[in-house]
Amino acid sequence: MDRRLFLKSSLAAATTAAVSVATMKAPWARTSARPALPMPSLLDLTQSGRLDLVAQQGTHRFGQASQPSSTFGYNQAYLGPIVRANQGQEIAARVRNNLREPLATHWHGLLIPGEVDGGPHLAIDPGEAWEPILQIDQPPSTAWFHAHTHPHTARQVYAGLAGVFQISDGQDGARGLPHEHGVDDLTLVLQDRRFDDDGRLSYRPGMFDRMQGFRGDHIVVNGALNPRAGVPRSIVRLRLLNGSNARIYHLRFDDGRPMHVMASDSGYWPQPVPTNELRMAPGERFEVLVDFIDGGDVSLLTGSDQNRGGPGMMGMMGNMRSFITGLVDDDLPILSFHPEGRKGAIDRMPEKIDDDLDQLPTNFARKREFSLDMMLGGMPMGRGMMGGDGAGPAMGINGRPFDMRHINEQVSLGTTEHWVIESNMLMHPFHIHGVRFRVLADETGQAPRLENRGYKDTVLVDGRAEVAVEFTQPAAPETPFMYHCHILEHEDAGMMGQFGVS
Ligand code: C2O
Ligand code: CU
Ligand code: CU
Repeated sequence: MDRRLFLKSSLAAATTAAVSVATMKAPWARTSARPALPMPSLLDLTQSGRLDLVAQQGTHRFGQASQPSSTFGYNQAYLGPIVRANQGQEIAARVRNNLREPLATHWHGLLIPGEVDGGPHLAIDPGEAWEPILQIDQPPSTAWFHAHTHPHTARQVYAGLAGVFQISDGQDGARGLPHEHGVDDLTLVLQDRRFDDDGRLSYRPGMFDRMQGFRGDHIVVNGALNPRAGVPRSIVRLRLLNGSNARIYHLRFDDGRPMHVMASDSGYWPQPVPTNELRMAPGERFEVLVDFIDGGDVSLLTGSDQNRGGPGMMGMMGNMRSFITGLVDDDLPILSFHPEGRKGAIDRMPEKIDDDLDQLPTNFARKREFSLDMMLGGMPMGRGMMGGDGAGPAMGINGRPFDMRHINEQVSLGTTEHWVIESNMLMHPFHIHGVRFRVLADETGQAPRLENRGYKDTVLVDGRAEVAVEFTQPAAPETPFMYHCHILEHEDAGMMGQFGVS
């Protein structure tokens, strides 16, 4: 990596970031009226077994005073419905593409074969439909679905092509968990966005954004800017999805009250674990329980996202950006909670909600190593350092940018492997399709940090992470599984590989 070249290009890009200053002062953003938290409709498949999604273009207002933005969504203008299926169910899905561009739709977190996974090889042409059968055979969890069209994933997801997929076993009542959708069981899709002077959604990534990932200066929840949520005076469950392109959240409540983490990407934890701060990388999901019994109002915030590089050049770039834009990387408000008079169903924190986790595996069929590379070094400036489409920097894994025609790894079905992932320059959220894994080691060097307990499919790699991956789903070479950085600008620039399982 030639840091001097890198810095040079960064400075050129820095000027484009100045645009966002205007939005901070825009009248639409200063409005005092906060919208009520929108809760996407629940599309319950547990009876019908049929899932119909239509990807479409629409217009959506993010703030009360903003002008309508042109957006994409599934069955609606922005985002999609909350889909709920039961463990053990067979779902006949139909995804229709009413956009004027190809679209692949991936089921992130579902343990299903490569041929129905919805990766880039399964793009749907405009006007066409795709009809995968989804055999749901995994523990209860909060998964999601989103656009995965190479190399347009970042733009399509940013425009709204994402939705939540809940897997249930109908036993949450017995577990003592809140489970009334929209009342004491709230699904929150967290996204950061940039807007123009009229409050219209804007996605014009500069070189900066392509290198560090695109961040917005406002947080929207389920498509609403800084909303307010009425909640019962009880224990409330929040299903959190980081659906942002690049932002890493550091979630906390402004009064310091704990979040009791009860589930990560791929399922429940044995018991809720309290924490005052929760780190969430793009693609990750957590479910937390929050005690609103005392009835006081409280706000959820995110601390500043420092993933712009360490003490080296990238760090300087980050500072340069705040200097040029005048933006201080401060706390950003996400949403506020207003407990109401009524009592809710659950008035005490459950102690035990699921079986203990299995022992960490110690026997592995194989070890593989992956290095997440930002490959600007040694390449000439200008066109030469652009990716395949000339749109940005080239990135890769083990020195090689993603190539649709090249299968990077071949794995044996039914085995467990030890994967070691290394990141350079930045932290990168590493996601693997078609599996769930356990984190064996992360940046702490000791027991993995709180966020990395439990079953996961996405792990933030801060220098180095080691995971134990179980391969239970087949993937033929025509429809392989992906592994990639979930900073979507990095994925589109080539920080992705593919593997078959047989
Ligand atoms: Cu959520 Cu391959 O992605
Ligand atoms: Cu996935
Ligand atoms: Cu990355």
